[in-house]
This record gives sequence, structure tokens and C-alpha cells, in this order.
Amino acid sequence: MRPDTRPFAHRHLLGIEQLSREDVLFLLDLADGYVELNRRPEKKLSLLRGLTQINLFFESSTRTRTSFELAGKRLGADVVNMSVSTSAIRKGETLIDTAMTLNAMHPDVLVVRHADSGAVELLARHVRCAVINGGDGRHEHPTQALLDALTIRRRKGRIEGLTVAICGDLLHSRVARSNILLLTRLGARVRLVGPPTLLPRTFAAYGVEVYHDMREGLRDADIVMMLRLQTERMRGSFVPSTREYFHFYGLTYRQLEVTKPDVLVMHPGPMNRGIEIDGVVADDIHRSAILDQVEMGVAVRMACLDALTRARRAGA
Ligand code: NCD
Repeated sequence: MRPDTRPFAHRHLLGIEQLSREDVLFLLDLADGYVELNRRPEKKLSLLRGLTQINLFFESSTRTRTSFELAGKRLGADVVNMSVSTSAIRKGETLIDTAMTLNAMHPDVLVVRHADSGAVELLARHVRCAVINGGDGRHEHPTQALLDALTIRRRKGRIEGLTVAICGDLLHSRVARSNILLLTRLGARVRLVGPPTLLPRTFAAYGVEVYHDMREGLRDADIVMMLRLQTERMRGSFVPSTREYFHFYGLTYRQLEVTKPDVLVMHPGPMNRGIEIDGVVADDIHRSAILDQVEMGVAVRMACLDALTRARRAGA
């Protein structure tokens, strides 16, 4: 069935975990069409006209919130950004009360980011609309993994059979978890690379290879995905110093000598230049796909909004 008419079987998008390989491919195919639309001067559709999308971000965000806002507006929805710093949440309102309050305003989609793993799922149980997880604690960030997959597929023509090295602070990364689930589901060989404090051996249970030596982990990789050192989630000391961290785990041209020559470098942003990645590598237009990822982000979020509102629009 064509991607623009097929129904989508899920009410919410809480994680990659709940999606089948077919669901993922459907969203990626749908997003491909939106990439083309976004490159045209006239980008606006009326698919979601009359529908209301609320972006509720309990954690700071630049690209995710902006791209969800653009995605909703380009599809014709009314988009409201709720700023948590000025809301009743600051006055002690619970997450469930916030959910029920917003629910009473009849939104059609809620996009939620929260610092606690599982908080978005909890909120989804108290509302009638579709909920999209914009990142919950260390748990999942499904739209990031989808946009990463779309970036890889468009640049490399496939995902199956590629060797993808995900490097850095794996312990605190929801981006890594969602990517591991998605990439293994689509047949990529996934390697995790990082210091033992940020990459426990237990991660091998995901069906991936674990490396503590950067050059070993990067050998013959097609894709190198760097992660930010998430100091805000760290309780105590995980790395001796950021200088030492860069020396062993920072991505430099020297580290890239062992990868495939046409390696693609990725980073979900925000980047810490000189900590997990050398600025010149990040800016290398031949190797870095970092800005492609941002572009794909809008298209993927349009695809998710489109898919999740299909049943609602059909019933209208
Ligand atoms: C990531 C996040 O918030 O999980 N950023 C993003 O969504 N682009 C990664 C990070 O914060 O390091």
C-alpha cells in the first residue's frame, strides 16, 4: 500500500521498542516524501488543519522542539509551545495533573520531553490524544533514531549490512538506546565504543559488540555516531577530565584513519567541540552528516505527525 494512504497501527510513539521493522520502514518512506516537500519554496500542507499540537518540554531543547514546531506548522496544525519554566508545574503541579489539564483542552497530539525515564508513557495513560516521546531520561528518543536512520539510508542507500559505531557516553544516552534498537532491527552491525564507566559490559545484551578502545571499535566502520558527554545526568565522576576524555575518546582525523574511507560522521547535537568531537571533523563537509540530520529531523517528525493522526483524520 502507498505510504500516503496506509493506516498506522499505533496510537502513540513512545519508543522504537514497540515498532516493527515494517513500521520503521513505513515511517522512513513517508519521511522521504517530506524531505522533498521541505526543499520546495512552498512547504505548507493542510493535512492537519483544525488539529492542535502541544509541545510540552520539561527539559531544554533547541533542535527537537523547533523541528516538531516546524513539522506541525508545515502540515497545517495549530502548534502551541508550553514553556515549563513559566507554567504551573513550577508551582508543584504533578505530571498527571498537567496531563489531565491539557487533555481537557482537547489537543490532538502532545509532544513530550521529560528528564525521567518512563514519564512520557505515564502521561500518555492519562490523555486521549496521540503522544510522541521527544526524549525521556535515559530511556528512548524515537524520532532521533528515525532521523538518524533516514540520514544513513539517504547517504548510503541502505542500512542493512553497514557497520555503525556508536561512541561515547552510552550510559546516559536515550539516543543510543533508540538507535541500537532501530539499527539492529534493520540489519546493521552495531558496535558500542566508550570507557567502561560510561559503557558497562551489560550493554552486550542488546546484541551489539562492546569496545573500550576507540581505534578497535572504529576499524572498518561505515558510520561513526558520536554522543555528547551528558554531564547533567551524571551523579559523581565518570571521566577523569574532559581533556583526557578527548584524548582517548574524542573523534579526530587520527581516529578516523581506521574506518572505511567513505565513513559518515554523525552527532545528534548539541555538540561539545573539543570534548567528544574535534571541530574540524564536525565541519568536514565530505564526512559529516550532522546538518543532514537536522534537515531529516523535520521530515521525520512530519511523517510521525501524519501517521499518528491518520485514524483521527479518517474519523473526522
Ligand atoms: C539529544 C537528547 O536530547 O537526547 N539531543 C537531541 O535531541 N538532539 C542528545 C543530547 O542531548 O546529547
